[in-house]
Amino acid sequence: MAARAMSLSFVLLCYTPALAQAFDYSGWRRSSKNSAPTKSVPSEGYYNPLLTGGSMLTVVPDTFPAGQGEPLNAIITGNSDERVLQQTETDGGLLNYFMSFGFAGECLGQHSGSDQGADLGDGNGILNETAVIRWDYGDPQLGTCKETIQGGNHFRYWVQNGPSANSGAIFMGISYEMPLNQDHDIVPNGYNNGRDWLVGNITNSDIPSANLTNGSFFNATTTFAGYTYQTNIQYVSGLLQNTSVGINHNITVEINGVVNATDGLVAVMQVSITGTPPKSFAWRPSPPQAWKLCPTFLLLFFTLVSLS
Ligand SMILES: *[C@@H]1O[C@H](CO)[C@@H](O)[C@H](O)[C@H]1NC(C)=O
Ligand SMILES: *[C@@H]1O[C@H](CO)[C@@H](O)[C@H](O)[C@H]1NC(C)=O
Ligand SMILES: *[C@@H]1O[C@H](CO)[C@@H](O)[C@H](O)[C@H]1NC(C)=O
Ligand SMILES: *[C@@H]1O[C@H](CO)[C@@H](O)[C@H](O)[C@H]1NC(C)=O
Ligand SMILES: *[C@@H]1O[C@H](CO)[C@@H](O)[C@H](O)[C@H]1NC(C)=O
Ligand SMILES: *[C@@H]1O[C@H](CO)[C@@H](O)[C@H](O)[C@H]1NC(C)=O
Ligand SMILES: *[C@@H]1O[C@H](CO)[C@@H](O)[C@H](O)[C@H]1NC(C)=O
Ligand SMILES: *[C@@H]1O[C@H](CO)[C@@H](O)[C@H](O)[C@H]1NC(C)=O
Repeated sequence: MAARAMSLSFVLLCYTPALAQAFDYSGWRRSSKNSAPTKSVPSEGYYNPLLTGGSMLTVVPDTFPAGQGEPLNAIITGNSDERVLQQTETDGGLLNYFMSFGFAGECLGQHSGSDQGADLGDGNGILNETAVIRWDYGDPQLGTCKETIQGGNHFRYWVQNGPSANSGAIFMGISYEMPLNQDHDIVPNGYNNGRDWLVGNITNSDIPSANLTNGSFFNATTTFAGYTYQTNIQYVSGLLQNTSVGINHNITVEINGVVNATDGLVAVMQVSITGTPPKSFAWRPSPPQAWKLCPTFLLLFFTLVSLS
């Protein structure tokens, strides 16, 4: 029954251009609009949530044992270029930046997976993630559909913009997940590796996970839609603990005696825009054509059905 209703809606989608266009990052609509007017950024580029009652672990519903969280293991600092901190895909905004290293919004604008909360100590209390962003397997338009089914790297993010600590910094919880039919568990060492593979996608070089320490530094440039970004990445300890205790999926994620579920490092990224497209160049994510999308919808649908 449910499957038939779903199939019908996919078919409808194929014949409804307006719906097909709604795919264009409609997932972005959940961007937060509650940023307080007075932004003030400390020299580190973010406020440490631990100092004001917040946490560097997310709030995950229904964990076993209860109360486990996932590490917020990367931060885009509030002293990054103001354009990058805007949650748009135009004008070099955050979504464009994510696409410059191979990550995009959720499959067909559909939100899948459970929501997690985070308290960034900014006076907003616990809020659900602003959005979920997935590795796009080299295809910004449909690659995140593959990620949803096959698993891979992804992150949730939250903006530190509450009334008492409005840095504008973006806190990311990155993890590498298993395929949908394995309930999207996290692969062994999937928090640390997920973080370092994302950084590796920015630097286009392998990050030596096991050798990282407080202060490890990398920088590189990435480009998308005519915008060039320079990212300076510094690993910082002291925000997260080097531990497996209290970390969601810790039993399978830690590598016993080798590395804890979280190694205690946060990748702090400061992003500048070093190149912009010529004025006449107006990049728009072109709506995928229906004839291209329909087979994809159907393939996706049958895959989902066969998994369920
Ligand atoms: C977070 O999302 C859940 C559904 O996943 C919802 O029940 C809850 O009210 C949301 N919390 C907030 C603070 O928006
Ligand atoms: C880029 O990301 C993919 C998917 O997470 C990963 O397999 C690959 O190792 C990353 N590249 C680098 C150089 O880290
Ligand atoms: C890590 O450091 C050790 C000792 O300095 C070195 O032998 C090894 O090659 C390094 N590993 C990586 C991946 O850089
Ligand atoms: C890395 O940073 C150094 C020093 O700030 C700078 O000279 C260099 O151009 C940067 N490299 C890249 C690839 O951004
Ligand atoms: C990490 O290194 C910075 C200097 O880069 C230092 O100020 C800080 O105290 C160090 N943190 C820890 C926890 O050792
Ligand atoms: C894991 O964390 C515990 C603290 O919870 C620490 O005692 C232990 O040395 C860590 N193990 C590794 C391999 O880092
Ligand atoms: C996982 O975390 C729980 C607390 O949430 C702790 O009781 C348990 O010992 C941890 N397991 C491992 C393998 O670290
Ligand atoms: C985590 O703790 C273990 C055990 O003390 C240590 O060997 C390892 O270097 C620590 N990891 C980091 C990233 O500091």
